[in-house]
Amino acid sequence: MTKQRFLITSALPYINGIKHLGNLAGSMLPADVHARFRRMQGHEVLFLCATDEHGTPAELAAAEAGKSVQDYCLEQHEIQKTAGEGFHLSFDHFGRSSSSQNYELTQHFAHILEQNGFIEERVSKQIFSIDDNRFLPDRYVEGTCPKCGFEDARGDQCDNCGTLLDPMDLINPRSKISGSKNVEVRDTSHLFLCQPKLEKNIGDWVEASKPNWPHLAYSIAKKWLDEGLQDRAITRDLSWGVPVAYNGKARPGFENKVFYVWFDAPIEYIGAAQEWAQKTGNDWQRWWRKDKGADDVTYVEFMGKDNVAFHTVSFPATILGSNEPWKLVDRLKAFNWVTWYGGKFSTSNKRGIFMDAALDLMPGDYWRWYLMANAPESSDAAFTLEGFQAAVNSDLANVFGNFINRITKFAVSKFDGEVKSGGEYGDIEHELFKNILEKMAQINQCHEEMEFRKAAAETRAMWVLGNEYLQTKAPWSLFKTDLEQSALGVRVGLNLCALFAIAAIPFIPETANKVLDALGIPNENRNWWDGAGVEVFDALPHGLKINAPDLLFQKIEDATVAEWADKFGGA
Ligand code: 2FM
Ligand code: ZN
Repeated sequence: MTKQRFLITSALPYINGIKHLGNLAGSMLPADVHARFRRMQGHEVLFLCATDEHGTPAELAAAEAGKSVQDYCLEQHEIQKTAGEGFHLSFDHFGRSSSSQNYELTQHFAHILEQNGFIEERVSKQIFSIDDNRFLPDRYVEGTCPKCGFEDARGDQCDNCGTLLDPMDLINPRSKISGSKNVEVRDTSHLFLCQPKLEKNIGDWVEASKPNWPHLAYSIAKKWLDEGLQDRAITRDLSWGVPVAYNGKARPGFENKVFYVWFDAPIEYIGAAQEWAQKTGNDWQRWWRKDKGADDVTYVEFMGKDNVAFHTVSFPATILGSNEPWKLVDRLKAFNWVTWYGGKFSTSNKRGIFMDAALDLMPGDYWRWYLMANAPESSDAAFTLEGFQAAVNSDLANVFGNFINRITKFAVSKFDGEVKSGGEYGDIEHELFKNILEKMAQINQCHEEMEFRKAAAETRAMWVLGNEYLQTKAPWSLFKTDLEQSALGVRVGLNLCALFAIAAIPFIPETANKVLDALGIPNENRNWWDGAGVEVFDALPHGLKINAPDLLFQKIEDATVAEWADKFGGA
C-alpha cells in the first residue's frame, strides 16, 4: 500500500476541569483509535490535540478556585494531559490554545480577513456593571430567560430550555461576579466577521465535501447555511484571551478586549502543529500549507455533534476568507452523547465518572474497550456500570484474555513455549482460516470507514472464532493421542494470539502490546494486515520460544459495581 499522510485532530477539551468519560468517548478516544490504525498501516500520522483555554468559563472557574487564570489554566492543562496519558492517548502533541503560536496565528487571521474585506468594526450595545466597573460578556451576566422564565439563565444560554441567548436578551440582568443588579447598557466596539459574504464560498465547499462527511455533519452544516449565515462578533470585553493586536500593536480602542474563544480555538489546530514543530524540529507547513506539500494530506477531524457547525461553517469561514492556501478538513467524524444511565453526566450532582477517577478504579484499556464497543455513533449511548462490567468480564476477560492465557500457558507447560513445525492442516483449519480472513477484511473496512462500534464488534467476533477453534481442536486432548496435531493446534493458536493482539492494538494498546511482548514480536512487526492471506496463520518462526503473559484482565465483581454505583450516583 502506498504511504499516505493523515492529519488527525480531536476537538479541544475545554480547560474548566477534568473531562468525563462521555467527552473522552465522543472525540479524543476515537481519534486515538483511528490514529493508531493509520500508523499501523504504515502511514505517516500527525495526531494533535490541546486544551481550549480562553473565554469566560475559564475566568470564572479560576476565580472560584481562588487562582489567577494563568495558574489555573496551567494546572488544569497538566491534569488533563496526565489523564490523557493514563488512557494511552497517543497525541504527537497536546498543546494549549494560550500558546504564543496561537496568539500569532489568530492575530494573523484577523488581520488578513480584515484586509480581504471580511471583518468590520461596529459599535454594539452591551451590559456594563457599574459596581464591577466592567462589561459583562457571555456568562458574566445572569438573569431571567425571556423564553421560559428560568431565573438563573446565563448570558449565552438558558440551561433550563436550551435557548441560545445574547446577554441583552436577559430580563433583570445581574453580574455573575458581584451579584449586583446595578447594570446599564453601554456602547462598545467589536469586530464582526461578515460570514454572509463568504456564504457562497462555504456552501460550494460544503457541497463538494458531502461525499466525505457523514450525513449528520452534512445536515448540520446545511441547516446553518439554509438559515442564512450571520455576521458574528469575534471579540469580547475580557482580559483573558488573545489580544486584539497585530505585530505587537494593540488595535486602538481594543486595549481591553480579546478575541472570542470560538474564533481562536480551532486556529489552535494549526497552533498545535507549530508547537509540535518547535518541540521536535519537524516541519509543520507540510501538514497545513497546501503550497508546502499539504495538498496530499488527508485531514480528519473528530468531535461531538455540538461542535459540528463550528467545524463545518465557522472555522472554514476563517480559512476560506483568508484566501491563503491552508488545508481544510477532508473527513469528519461526529458523535452523539454518552449518557449516564440515560441522563446527563453532571459534576455538581456527582453523577458520572470523570477521567481521573476512572483511572483510579481500573486501567485505561478497560474503559477504552467499553466506550468504543458502545460508541455513541448512530444515537446517544447509555453508559452504565453494569454494561462496563459485562464488557470487561465477557469480551475482555472471557473471550480475549481467556484465549490468550489458555493457549500460551498450554504451550509453555507442554511444549516448553516452542512454536513447533510439522503436521498437516485439516478441514477445521481451512474453515478457520477462511472465517478469520473474512473477519479481518470486515474489521479493516470498519476502521477505514471510522465505524468504531462495528469495528469493536467484529474484533470480538474474531476472538470468538479463536475460542471455538480451540474448543473443537482441543490440543490438550490431542497431546495424548496425536502429538503432531496437538503441536499444530498450538502453533495455529499462537499465531492467532499475535493476530488477535494486533487487531486489539487500536482499542486496548497496553494489553495488546503486553501479549505481543510475551510472544516476542518486535515492534516493527506490529503492523496492520492489509492484503494478508493464509500465511498469517504460520507467521511466527518455527523454533521461537514464547512466554505466557500474566493474567490479562481482572474481572469486576458485583459487589464492586454496587460500591461504585454508590459513589458515582449509578442507577
Ligand atoms: O466544545 C468544546 O468543548 C470546545 N472546547 C471544543 C473546541 S474544538 C476546537 F474548535 F477548538
Ligand atoms: Zn429558558
